[in-house]
Amino acid sequence: MKINLLYFSSTGNTHFICKKFKEKLSQLEHNVTEFDIVTENQSQVLDCDMLGIFYPVWACTLPPYFFDFMKNINLNKAKGKKVFIIATYESFIGNTNVLFKRKLQRKGFTVVFQSHFLFPANVYIPGINFSKKPTKAEIDEMVNSALSRIDYECIQILSEQYKKEKISFKHKIISWGFRRCYILFNIFKRRMKINKSKCTKCCLCVKICPTGNINLNPEKEIKIGNNCIFCVKCYNLCPQNAILIGKKSKNTEKYKRYKGLFSGYSSPQYR
Ligand SMILES: Cc1cc2nc3c(=O)[nH]c(=O)nc-3n(C[C@H](O)[C@H](O)[C@H](O)COP(=O)(O)O)c2cc1C
Ligand code: SF4
Ligand code: SF4
Repeated sequence: MKINLLYFSSTGNTHFICKKFKEKLSQLEHNVTEFDIVTENQSQVLDCDMLGIFYPVWACTLPPYFFDFMKNINLNKAKGKKVFIIATYESFIGNTNVLFKRKLQRKGFTVVFQSHFLFPANVYIPGINFSKKPTKAEIDEMVNSALSRIDYECIQILSEQYKKEKISFKHKIISWGFRRCYILFNIFKRRMKINKSKCTKCCLCVKICPTGNINLNPEKEIKIGNNCIFCVKCYNLCPQNAILIGKKSKNTEKYKRYKGLFSGYSSPQYR
């Protein structure tokens, strides 16, 4: 069977799990291709027997790329197409997968499986610093727990065993509240600044920003524009921790950057 995997990943958690599913499904002799939603070509992505969608939970919803993808979908190609959804999250997913499943069904997809994987948070900023940064041992445990589920979940996907999730009323309300908070990210976006005393102008942030929102201007200064989706990739992965979200984030001990599961995460470069 031809299986395409479509993912978005800011700091590598979601891409890691996507690659692990790819490895296992390929071992089971399926023809598997992965696509980064930032650079994908929609007609190619839907050219398959089954589609896997991998996303990080953002305020109990999905990164905006997936909504653009759904808006522009070719309904003829979506009709009856089997799809499975896999989310990564750091503490609370609520009814995110359930709502996404309904959206996919409305476009004509047949959702055959869904699940979610707990991974470290990638947002440690002044004002949003809910979770304690996990220790190396805790991260290893998350990775091992995720890896131990891959074989079984691939079998469930292939046998189309949709696991119905029970979401309590309380969780539905909390999820609804979280989604309303999405707008708060606009405040944090406006606080993003370059710490000029630390920036070496290596241009990594320019290359990895998915929206092309960071540039080296003609005066040879790094500038952040107005097209930020608040993926916090630049904030986390700048090698000098020179991207600030509020002055307090200069304190990199308190507001530690998340460098990925294996601390050597190297993001795809888009330009
Ligand atoms: C803008 C933003 C909002 C987030 N909102 C949530 C959330 O509502 N619930 C949660 O459990 N994790 C949330 N997270 C954490 C990520 O979902 C989690 O760390 C994920 O594994 C990151 O995946 P990635 O490394 O592939 O980007 C959020 C992360 C970002 C950047
Ligand atoms: S990645 Fe960091 S150090 Fe490099 S140009 Fe961007 S802000 Fe400066
Ligand atoms: S500028 Fe915004 S969109 Fe670009 S990498 Fe940074 S947080 Fe993400």
